[in-house]
Amino acid sequence: MISASRIHAPELITLAKELGLFPDTARNIQKVASRPFSSDTDLARAIQLDPIATARMLKLMNSGFYNLNRPLVDLRQAITLMGFRSARDLAIALVLGQRMSQPADTTRKVWARAVRSGCALHVLSRYNRVSPTTDAFVFGLLHDIGLLSMCVLEPDFGKVYDSLGGEYGPRLANAERLYFGLSHGELGAALLNSWGLPASIADAVANHHADINHNASAAMLGAAEFLTQDRTPTLDEMVANETVIATKLTERQLSIARGVYLEEIHRLAKSFI
Ligand SMILES: [Fe+2]
Repeated sequence: MISASRIHAPELITLAKELGLFPDTARNIQKVASRPFSSDTDLARAIQLDPIATARMLKLMNSGFYNLNRPLVDLRQAITLMGFRSARDLAIALVLGQRMSQPADTTRKVWARAVRSGCALHVLSRYNRVSPTTDAFVFGLLHDIGLLSMCVLEPDFGKVYDSLGGEYGPRLANAERLYFGLSHGELGAALLNSWGLPASIADAVANHHADINHNASAAMLGAAEFLTQDRTPTLDEMVANETVIATKLTERQLSIARGVYLEEIHRLAKSFI
């Protein structure tokens, strides 16, 4: 456990490695995916070493979330339909989520919110694509990996997070800087980089609270987080929020996205939380 404050990214990354926050299965998926001639079948074999991640991936693909018109029983088919890189990232996110949602209630809550963020981003990105390199749902799942890691690495920080009532604003950022010397966005980006995930994801993750005008992805992530609060904001609250405004989505688009999000989230919650 970390006892001193002002711990910086390199030390946290070392600690995350020591605690096995990036499990062997995820490492293997990454290794297989990075070989130049790996096929969908090779990737499927690597993912299938984790039966829970495999089952969750198939459940997601068959849930209606991706609007497929036929049921899938085969992971290789799912990879082909989803795309190699998005499938790799989703599998890694699911393996990480399993590892990180075990130790305590707080991490389970943060993981549940990551799933909601993935859902919100998936819905919002129908109007404004967030990442050229991965699926929006995966992007949302991974974006708070720094916060999950903080709660796992320092259980006392989990209590601080709880005391803020799930607030993701400046008070959380201040608490993170006091404890760790950096924000969860910065730590998440450093971890994703060290795990070899795409730089474009890490860049948006680093900036998703710091600068909503940094790029479209950062604003969309911020808006997804706003939508995924415990009490879903009203449409009026959404259109008045500066992060949501930064996405440049229209009121009509936001209204439709909010409705679809509320429909989808119950179905997804059964698959992931
Ligand atoms: Fe965040």
